[in-house]
Amino acid sequence: MGITLLSFCFLILANVECGNPIYFNIGGVLSNNESISHFKEIIAHLNFVHQYVPRGVTYYATAMKIDANPIRTALNVCKLLISQRVYAVVVSHPLTGDLSPAAVSYTSGFYHIPVIGISSRDSAFSDKNIHVSFLRTVPPYSHQADVWVDLLKHFNYLKVIFIHSSDTDGRAILGRFQTTSQSHDDDVEIKIQVESVIEFEPGLNNYTAQLYEMKDAQARVYLLYASKKDANVIFKDAAALNMTYAGYVWIVTEQALDVQNVPIGAIGLKLVHATDERAHIQDSIYVLASALRGMNQTKNITEAPKDCDNSGSIWETGKTLFEYIRNQVLIKGATGMKVAFDDNGDRINAEYDIVNVQGPSNHTSVGTYTYDPKTDKMRLAIADNKIIWPGKVHTKPEGFILPTHLKVLTIEEKPFVYTRLLKDDDKNCTADEIKCPHFNSTNDPGEMYCCRGFCMDLLKELARTINFTFDLALSPDGQFGNYIIKNSSGTFLLIFLLN
Ligand SMILES: *[C@@H]1O[C@H](CO)[C@@H](O)[C@H](O)[C@H]1NC(C)=O
Ligand SMILES: *[C@@H]1O[C@H](CO)[C@@H](O)[C@H](O)[C@H]1NC(C)=O
Ligand SMILES: *[C@@H]1O[C@H](CO)[C@@H](O)[C@H](O)[C@H]1NC(C)=O
Ligand SMILES: *[C@@H]1O[C@H](CO)[C@@H](O)[C@H](O)[C@H]1NC(C)=O
Ligand SMILES: *[C@@H]1O[C@H](CO)[C@@H](O)[C@H](O)[C@H]1NC(C)=O
Ligand SMILES: *[C@@H]1O[C@H](CO)[C@@H](O)[C@H](O)[C@H]1NC(C)=O
Ligand SMILES: *[C@@H]1O[C@H](CO)[C@@H](O)[C@H](O)[C@H]1NC(C)=O
Ligand SMILES: *[C@@H]1O[C@H](CO)[C@@H](O)[C@H](O)[C@H]1NC(C)=O
Ligand SMILES: *[C@@H]1O[C@H](CO)[C@@H](O)[C@H](O)[C@H]1NC(C)=O
Ligand SMILES: *[C@@H]1O[C@H](CO)[C@@H](O)[C@H](O)[C@H]1NC(C)=O
Repeated sequence: MGITLLSFCFLILANVECGNPIYFNIGGVLSNNESISHFKEIIAHLNFVHQYVPRGVTYYATAMKIDANPIRTALNVCKLLISQRVYAVVVSHPLTGDLSPAAVSYTSGFYHIPVIGISSRDSAFSDKNIHVSFLRTVPPYSHQADVWVDLLKHFNYLKVIFIHSSDTDGRAILGRFQTTSQSHDDDVEIKIQVESVIEFEPGLNNYTAQLYEMKDAQARVYLLYASKKDANVIFKDAAALNMTYAGYVWIVTEQALDVQNVPIGAIGLKLVHATDERAHIQDSIYVLASALRGMNQTKNITEAPKDCDNSGSIWETGKTLFEYIRNQVLIKGATGMKVAFDDNGDRINAEYDIVNVQGPSNHTSVGTYTYDPKTDKMRLAIADNKIIWPGKVHTKPEGFILPTHLKVLTIEEKPFVYTRLLKDDDKNCTADEIKCPHFNSTNDPGEMYCCRGFCMDLLKELARTINFTFDLALSPDGQFGNYIIKNSSGTFLLIFLLN
């Protein structure tokens, strides 16, 4: 009798409250006990913030510690979180290893339960084919490219060399850099040219060959994306080649900045609040509550899946909730002035400190990259006079070197250029002449000529005043046409044209 009455009550209740749920369980997979207690505390507090949580609605926290073993983590997500009908999961990272956050994302993603990452910065999480329901309050490493572009424009470095490892993150940051540096959103048309891209295989123990290639180029501004381990080898080899001293500029990613032999004068970025788990937990919970409140106004919210054995029906609410979270904007969040997400669920408007390596383990902040509410844009502020550049100099390097040896091409053009074929018995040109071989299109030795005339005098005078040396040759086809101009070894082709 009692049991019938009880189920009757529930039936009545269920009918009365036929609308959306009023109890929400939020899962947390966090790195330590301290974070877990922050998580519980923040959710308990959230229930009293009526701007986000209407009266009658209650949020509950279900938290577990993340395990370095991804399989155990996945099983625990089922056993401890999904069994409690969590509507979303907040995930941090273990102290060692980085596979577990991905395991949480796969497991929850399978049931379309939104996952908010608060520390994973690998670009792989941006792939929404794999991490279908993953968002994060931190930006992926590749977003540093945006700041790099602004930094280069600030320093007026328009020619750079890009060095990256041949992995997902390396390619992602290059792709983003190329897109951002070519975009036209500014009034001033400043284009940054990538002189060459050096893609290296991670894990080698000698990068001398790759560095030689860079040394030959004109640009002296190096943008480096490398893991800690690779950066260590690269910096060691670069120092041996004198590439970390005066005249060079190193702009490196966050991982490379932490290497103990990072060159003095290097510039890098540090994500503000990156290690403040509490702040990230707080922002993710508030974004979540705000999304659920918004969704409650127009959408049906169905109960979250209860166990991992049921793979039958898709939890539509989860998919919709993901979209709602992604569209949330939190002004004055704990992790920045504006917390928002892009189409991949990656954090945008993240703020950075611009850090300058001024000595062994001396990282000094020389600027900031912050959100400016007035313009609704990110703003770079740099104290140029605080920067110490490689070689411990205080003046900004030029960022390039001018080639000192040129290849010059000319044609016979009387009265400006006269040519004289050297016969077998005559080996030398006279003092007012310059040797100018005529090569056939192929690389055969060709015939030797001497050139003189007004243009040749001008060339000699230029070489003397500008201080360069040159090799002169006659145009193979006898005219100024399209000739191969680009040669990565730093030699240049200057075409004498007078008409
Ligand atoms: C964390 O909490 C668990 C259970 O509450 C406890 O067994 C463990 O000893 C705690 N660990 C630390 C480092 O405090
Ligand atoms: C790296 O290779 C270069 C030649 O490619 C060699 O001269 C140099 O000694 C090597 N460095 C190390 C640390 O093995
Ligand atoms: C680097 O500089 C030092 C001294 O300035 C010099 O002895 C050495 O040969 C240079 N090394 C290279 C590879 O240029
Ligand atoms: C959803 O809206 C109803 C009606 O306005 C309200 O009673 C309920 O508390 C809301 N639930 C949430 C989670 O905001
Ligand atoms: C919500 O569910 C009710 C009953 O199942 C249905 O009549 C209504 O159209 C649904 N509303 C939306 C926005 O899907
Ligand atoms: C770092 O180096 C700069 C310049 O040498 C110096 O002014 C500053 O005090 C140093 N900071 C630390 C923390 O050692
Ligand atoms: C040509 O120049 C070389 C040195 O550059 C000299 O030894 C030689 O005697 C010269 N030949 C003639 C024919 O002047
Ligand atoms: C250049 O090539 C043409 C035909 O390919 C040939 O007739 C000519 O002799 C060559 N000249 C030289 C200097 O080798
Ligand atoms: C010209 O360049 C050479 C080599 O780069 C250098 O040794 C010489 O001092 C320079 N001369 C002048 C006048 O700048
Ligand atoms: C550039 O020119 C030099 C000689 O001038 C040659 O040895 C080298 O192979 C050329 N490099 C490329 C990439 O064409």
